[in-house]
Amino acid sequence: MSSPKTTRSGSVSGSCGPDCTCRGPIPALDDLRSAMPKQDPKSVIYMDNNATTRVDEQVVAEMLPYLTEQYGNPSSMHTFGGQVAHKIAEARQRVADLLGCLPEEILFTSCGTESDNTAIKGTLAVLPNKRKIVTTRVEHPAVLTTCRDLERHGYSISEIGVDRQGNLNLDELGFRIDDNTAIVSVMYANNETGVIFPIDEIASIVHSRGVVFHTDAVQAAGKIPLNLRNSAIDMLSLSGHKLHAPKGIGVLYVRKGTRIAPFLHGGHQESGRRGGTENVPGIIALGKACELALKYRVEENTRVKSLRDRLEAKLLASCPDCMINGNPEHRLPNTLNISFEYIEGEAILLLLNQFGICASSGSACTSGALEPSHVLRAMGVPFTAAHGSIRFSLSRFNTEAEVDFVAEVMPKIVNRLRELSPFVKR
Ligand SMILES: Cc1ncc(COP(=O)(O)O)c(C=O)c1O
Repeated sequence: MSSPKTTRSGSVSGSCGPDCTCRGPIPALDDLRSAMPKQDPKSVIYMDNNATTRVDEQVVAEMLPYLTEQYGNPSSMHTFGGQVAHKIAEARQRVADLLGCLPEEILFTSCGTESDNTAIKGTLAVLPNKRKIVTTRVEHPAVLTTCRDLERHGYSISEIGVDRQGNLNLDELGFRIDDNTAIVSVMYANNETGVIFPIDEIASIVHSRGVVFHTDAVQAAGKIPLNLRNSAIDMLSLSGHKLHAPKGIGVLYVRKGTRIAPFLHGGHQESGRRGGTENVPGIIALGKACELALKYRVEENTRVKSLRDRLEAKLLASCPDCMINGNPEHRLPNTLNISFEYIEGEAILLLLNQFGICASSGSACTSGALEPSHVLRAMGVPFTAAHGSIRFSLSRFNTEAEVDFVAEVMPKIVNRLRELSPFVKR
């Protein structure tokens, strides 16, 4: 999270840079702070787990020896390297167990972004006569920016819209697929709202038209059950740092028989599908993280969901003029995207930051102006609400006491910012 700067007048200015005019001064905090519940000044309440997660201690313990003692190259002929290759095979099996697929269908990459790029560009490379990609307007930039780049290289991109709750129009999906379509890429769950798409149904529609189907499951993996054995999904992306493994490791599941060109040419690693010496500690860490996710998923997600629901209920009760963004039924159990009308999400974040609370906002400073996120715009969230959106995303490390603290702080911040808002009718 960016840290705010305190000005001489005691107010807090934005984090976008010295020339930024996207928001006015944010009020001095001293009187607000005195009205707040007491908190350990050093403690951080981390509710930004869709951005990244804390690496689980058991994961760290599993990967550490592969940084210090067992540093061999898994491609080496000697036993020292061979032991590492065995451990990679174990990690591959653990990831496959979480996804319900075969270990040889797991391709290790460096991140979710690389997995998405590989799926899309790797498919286009083996289908040179097909020039169209169908996707949605609410994808992560890892997919959308890749598609926009491909558009500049002569491909045609068709983006399906969503309704006010973030649901996809499946009739539109069928209508957009044609003979020129190489691949359809639709995310499993949205990173901003948590909305879950009916991916198995979508995969079946796409398959019935003879087209390759990829899903970006970076936010879904580890949070909801996935069983690729029973689905028509051809490729699926996940990212280690979203499920308590470190940054720098990702996976692309590639169904047996699905053709893709390698994204990185080089050595024969990953069965010739991705060159480059493996990120051994990252792979081992991801394997352990997947094992833990599978072992604790039901119990943990029930607890995380009840914490999320508690926070949601308390905020709806204590803050007038706020609304939940996204389908409340079909949502990741950890995600709460909530709009506070008439105030700016970034101002809320800066004040939350003063209390050690980490969350995200649905608007970002682009060229000196605050722009609501492309996801909320695609959903048609009204301007005043889209600007005031905050995403809280929880994990197994959050507690009820943290939820209660945030629920106590938020109405005070909201009231203070509304006192200054020109949009509030008085
Ligand atoms: C839905 C989704 N896809 C892709 C990515 C990119 O993953 P990575 O940070 O591992 O490149 C993210 C990261 O936030 C994401 O939320």
